[in-house]
Amino acid sequence: MRLKDKVAVVTGGASGLGKAIATRFAQEGAIAVVADINPETTARTVMEIEAQGGRARGHQVDVTDALRLQQFFDALIASEGRIDILVNNAGVTKYKAFDAISDPDWDAVLRLDLKAVFYCAQAVAPHMTRQQYGKIINISSSLGTGTTPHIGTLSAGAAAPYASAKSAVIQLTKILARELGPSGVNVNCLAPGFFLTPLTATTRTPEEVEEHVRVRSEMAVLKRPGKLEELANAALFFASDESSFVTGQTLCVDGGRSDRM
Ligand SMILES: NC(=O)c1ccc[n+]([C@@H]2O[C@H](COP(=O)([O-])OP(=O)(O)OC[C@H]3O[C@@H](n4cnc5c(N)ncnc54)[C@H](O)[C@@H]3O)[C@@H](O)[C@H]2O)c1
Repeated sequence: MRLKDKVAVVTGGASGLGKAIATRFAQEGAIAVVADINPETTARTVMEIEAQGGRARGHQVDVTDALRLQQFFDALIASEGRIDILVNNAGVTKYKAFDAISDPDWDAVLRLDLKAVFYCAQAVAPHMTRQQYGKIINISSSLGTGTTPHIGTLSAGAAAPYASAKSAVIQLTKILARELGPSGVNVNCLAPGFFLTPLTATTRTPEEVEEHVRVRSEMAVLKRPGKLEELANAALFFASDESSFVTGQTLCVDGGRSDRM
């Protein structure tokens, strides 16, 4: 087991990629802490992990609420004794025509996709520093590394806040790696390509989803969307000691996207 008895917090761990990561970590012996704003899907995820023989805890957490977040991490330390792994996965996207993107749109996306990554890292860093051990994994996106035509009726600029936040997460990863490296904390980042999840499906019409799968598959040199476990396996590498001499890095898990290659 590659994460035996490690305490691993996965934000947004009750759906899509986060759920796959929490499930994979539990299979490797971790106590998977599902920290998600949605209490129903959180409870369901915990039940599913436990039904497979894994260990999991569920907490309803809004990662954009810095004060409550600190209380959550402090309570978790009190109950579990330590936090070894943090996956900053919770994220949201809003697609709107470039000229219709408002200030509240920017704020909503940046608050969750960028600022919350910082809040969570800041809350766990003292604990990890005390332990002289920790792994922080941030989830960026292909849109943090390149641009891509929007599929549907909107312009490419429709993703401006999301792409800006996801790009900033890559740089934030390097800054945090530098800051926390001397304390034995590795900070790395994953940039997923296209994976079918509630996020990618519910932000589009069924026709757009179909078109999205076709175009994104065509863009990847592997000619298909990613499987959730493929992203989870990359997260497992960064969470485990197999990557002990890797920090500040971003790994693109995207089937080889042509907009980057
Ligand atoms: N699916 C993809 O193709 C893809 C591609 C690139 C990057 N990503 C990134 O991967 C991450 C996960 O995406 P997904 O597709 O699994 O999304 P998803 O919508 O399936 O899951 C997101 C989870 O985050 C939770 N969440 C939302 N706001 C929250 C908050 N304030 N506090 C705590 N939890 C909150 C939701 O309840 C949900 O369970 C996101 O950061 C996303 O930007 C996804």
